[in-house]
Amino acid sequence: MLQSVRIAGYDRIPDLERLGPIQITNAEPEFAKAVRDAIEAHGGAASIVSAPQRSGLCLFTEGLLENPPAERHYQALQAALLPDRNTHAIMLERASNDAIDQISGLSGLCRSIRIERPGTHIYALSFRSSQTNVEIASLIVSALSLPSDDYTLTEAGVYRDSPADEDVFPPLAPLRAPASTVWLVTGGGRGVTADCTIELAKRTGGSFILLGRSEIVAWPSWLEPQSELKALRGTLARNKNHPDVPNTPAEIDRFARKLLASSEISSTLKAIEATGSNAKYVQADIGDKESLRSVLAKQVSISGAITGLVHGAGVLSDGLADRLDLKSFETVFAPKVIGLQTILSCLDLQALHHVGLFSSASAVFGNEGQANYAAANAWLNNVAVQLAAELPNTQVKSFCWGPWHGGMVDDALARMFTERGIGLISRQEGARIFADQLLHSVHDQVRFVIGDEWGSA
Ligand SMILES: NC(=O)c1ccc[n+]([C@@H]2O[C@H](COP(=O)([O-])OP(=O)(O)OC[C@H]3O[C@@H](n4cnc5c(N)ncnc54)[C@H](OP(=O)(O)O)[C@@H]3O)[C@@H](O)[C@H]2O)c1
Repeated sequence: MLQSVRIAGYDRIPDLERLGPIQITNAEPEFAKAVRDAIEAHGGAASIVSAPQRSGLCLFTEGLLENPPAERHYQALQAALLPDRNTHAIMLERASNDAIDQISGLSGLCRSIRIERPGTHIYALSFRSSQTNVEIASLIVSALSLPSDDYTLTEAGVYRDSPADEDVFPPLAPLRAPASTVWLVTGGGRGVTADCTIELAKRTGGSFILLGRSEIVAWPSWLEPQSELKALRGTLARNKNHPDVPNTPAEIDRFARKLLASSEISSTLKAIEATGSNAKYVQADIGDKESLRSVLAKQVSISGAITGLVHGAGVLSDGLADRLDLKSFETVFAPKVIGLQTILSCLDLQALHHVGLFSSASAVFGNEGQANYAAANAWLNNVAVQLAAELPNTQVKSFCWGPWHGGMVDDALARMFTERGIGLISRQEGARIFADQLLHSVHDQVRFVIGDEWGSA
């Protein structure tokens, strides 16, 4: 479990003079001014700058911009890469907001940069508060002399995330999933979300609507069933003269992937139906707001209100922080962030008994080459905390998975994790943990870290 540990003794204003002149970036001018005024009111010296002009403490307001999340996180990354190693950079961000597109996940981004650039001092200071800018600015000032780390400020105090010693607590509460649950599962046709969905179906029954971009196509009758990409590509290449088979290696690769995706979705549907539940697959790109809205409206009109949501859709677009471009953020944020935002804006939230979000351990520990992905998953974690607070009768859980043996972890990645001493989660064990905690854990256990800890930067 990921717990918020309250930092004792930091509810007082620090000796600001000792911190020297503080710079604040003017990306969000009104907020920058509120923070500068709060620092000066407490005897400190602060200036508003377009970019850090010198070493020392610098507060960045790029994370408070009101532009779309992928753009905002990309801009925050660009700002975060500017300072030299003698700068102590603090990225300000909202961890809660009525408009969830204003929530950020900069803690994941900062942790990834610290891993990629050892010795860099870059931390996230998140606030979960509905207070005015001036009041929040005062909370920020009270946190400025905390030891270097990522913190969350609330009206009740300053908190630091810390994984609990136990990976996952044993189930505590009785099952609360009526058999009539209508589950909407993004990414549920394939990958590790499919394993979790099948396990859920065994436990709860109900109806399952699985969303994914892949098309379901018939497996050619002349082709032996196969599940390995390399072997299937080989078979197709050997049968190039068959009218079903395309010509070039690139087209053969695409065709093979399409057949395997389709066959995996069909197997998932069969496995869910074998539990006595209903299952259907709906082709939809959840990063496309307009088409997703019409898909959801149609499904609700057929099945009735969605009462269980599992959000597993996700893609990677890896690269070291200084190579990541805006496109890579948009790619990663489309299913994880835009998808969930659109779904939550369309559903009747009060009807939801369960919300299970597929996040990643990279949000908690950071990961080399995954600053964009870690940020999107940290956003998911923040949204989960907010939803759980808003929906006291709903089980809201965010699963920060370490690497699984399957899904987006291919053989090469699996080897890399194993070499780093990070164990892989078996598909059976991961599915069991998911169903146990989504269905039975107590309401206030919201974020779970499953797997080995890494890279404490
Ligand atoms: N596997 C791991 O070790 C691991 C670790 C940490 C976190 N996670 C998280 O767990 C989730 C599942 O990962 P996985 O390993 O199973 O990955 P995967 O095998 O690549 O599956 C990803 C799933 O997301 C769907 N998807 C992606 N983009 C979509 C879009 N725009 N619209 C609709 N569906 C979309 C995919 O279906 P289509 O391609 O058909 O669209 C697929 O079903 C992800 O959110 C991932 O971040 C996985």
